[in-house]
Amino acid sequence: MTRRPIVFRRVLLAVLGLLVLGVAGLFAIAWRPAIAPIDPPAPGAFAADRIARGEVLAGAGYCATCHTVPGGVRYAGGYAMRTAFGTIHSTNITPDPQTGIGRWSEAAFVRAMRSGVARDGSHLFPAFPFDHFTRITDQDLGDLYAYLMSREPSAAAPKPNTVPFPLNVRALQAGWKLLFLRQGPFTPDRTRDEAWNRGAYLAEGVSHCGACHTPRNAVGAERRDAAYAGALIDGWQAPALTDANPAPLAWTEEALYAYLRSGATAEHGSAVGSMAEVVHGLSKLPDADIRALAVYFADVGRAAARSGDERTVLAGALAASGEGTRQETDRGAGLYLAACAACHYNRAPAPLLARPELALNSALVGDDPTNLIRVVLHGVGTDDGIPGAMMPPFAHLGDAEIASLAAYLRRTRTGRAPWPDLEAKVAEVRRLDTGT
Ligand code: HEC
Ligand code: HEC
Ligand code: HEC
Repeated sequence: MTRRPIVFRRVLLAVLGLLVLGVAGLFAIAWRPAIAPIDPPAPGAFAADRIARGEVLAGAGYCATCHTVPGGVRYAGGYAMRTAFGTIHSTNITPDPQTGIGRWSEAAFVRAMRSGVARDGSHLFPAFPFDHFTRITDQDLGDLYAYLMSREPSAAAPKPNTVPFPLNVRALQAGWKLLFLRQGPFTPDRTRDEAWNRGAYLAEGVSHCGACHTPRNAVGAERRDAAYAGALIDGWQAPALTDANPAPLAWTEEALYAYLRSGATAEHGSAVGSMAEVVHGLSKLPDADIRALAVYFADVGRAAARSGDERTVLAGALAASGEGTRQETDRGAGLYLAACAACHYNRAPAPLLARPELALNSALVGDDPTNLIRVVLHGVGTDDGIPGAMMPPFAHLGDAEIASLAAYLRRTRTGRAPWPDLEAKVAEVRRLDTGT
């Protein structure tokens, strides 16, 4: 009888000991030293060519997209990212000494980009895509630093995040990194040519294409076994860029080049939603870099193996384009004729750039109707996709009307199974848009 409490006490002690060890271990893994603050570099401290190269890289990394609130000062942060784990706000990366990175040395900046650790030693959340920025070379990181540190400082205090306890414990990010972060600059594949490697460097590193096009696991890390397999991001569907891409015509090197350079191709469609921001960001990259991205993704998508039946696909799409241009009894057909046909109908021999051919569009052919619904609700602004071209929003149409329109287009222009529960899906997309 008297032994039991002793056993119990021993077990308790062992458990406590393990807990202390665990906490100490986590602390040891998670602890990073602060890097000493510097006096903000004087304006003119950086060579003009470094700043110019940094500006191009900042564009290609969409730093401004995430670090600026709509209508706010560029790079002053505060942009809200809604994640599955709560809202995370981007920080102020202007060189303001108090609220920005004005007192960050280049070493502190490089550490943040390579391993997601702030100057004070705290861990940053992977909503900041350091898992990609870690691939950037020292030289390019130095140029980015030069560019940011020579911006106009802007005082803007960080906004509080809404990540719940215990996920908001920054030290826990060390565990995440241990499991998912492969740190270090890009290593070229010697079996590939220079253009492929340049494309891979930009894609995996600064331009982080996988951050949107690769699905994530339960704790928000990109799934390595499903690179570029397509994912839902910010309420848009980023299609697969592998050979599982739904577009009826393969994304050849030429098509990818035209799309990434100009924002649209007649054989595929326009860059809309968050992809429009990407095309804006890439716009300062030289043609050779866009070509390199096209070379890389033509390979990722196995375009060479997919091409061959282009003439047949095109002829089929153009034949379907006539559907709905005559008066029909179908409700969706009537809507299409009234609201869409005037701008989207194409005639043989080829679709026109300014009249996106819906039968060739991933929005219509993919498994998920989200992008089609969003485009119909919001239209497309003149700055997105084809420069100067726009599509008006149709948010005044009811959920049932948009659903029947989508079902009709899917049925007449693709060989795919009907989308299920369309009306509920339209309501859901509308709800997500208004944030209610
Ligand atoms: C997808 C959105 C996104 C993009 C793109 C992005 N950032 Fe960030 N960044 C964030 C978020 C969110 C944080 C804050 C993370 C946190 O609080 O843990 C952050 C934090 C940082 C920090 C740490 C600053 C601090 O005060 O702790 C630096 C430095 C930084 N970003 C630089 C950049 C640069 C340079 C680029 C472009 C090459 C860039 N970011 C692109 C979202 C982004
Ligand atoms: C006034 C002309 C006009 C009307 C009317 C119109 N569209 Fe569009 N639509 C366009 C243009 C132009 C674009 C490409 C915009 C760009 O790239 O800037 C576009 C783009 C699209 C896209 C996106 C294609 C992509 O590549 O992602 C879809 C989907 C679409 N339209 C469907 C519709 C539907 C459905 C209707 C009817 C409800 C409709 N459109 C009505 C002109 C129109
Ligand atoms: C911020 C998120 C985001 C990033 C980063 C991103 N994309 Fe996208 N991408 C999207 C979304 C959303 C779509 C679908 C909207 C559309 O069709 O315009 C898309 C569409 C595409 C398409 C058209 C696919 C199709 O079948 O219609 C291509 C090609 C593409 N992206 C390539 C890239 C490349 C290359 C990069 C990196 C340089 C990249 N994306 C980075 C979100 C992103």
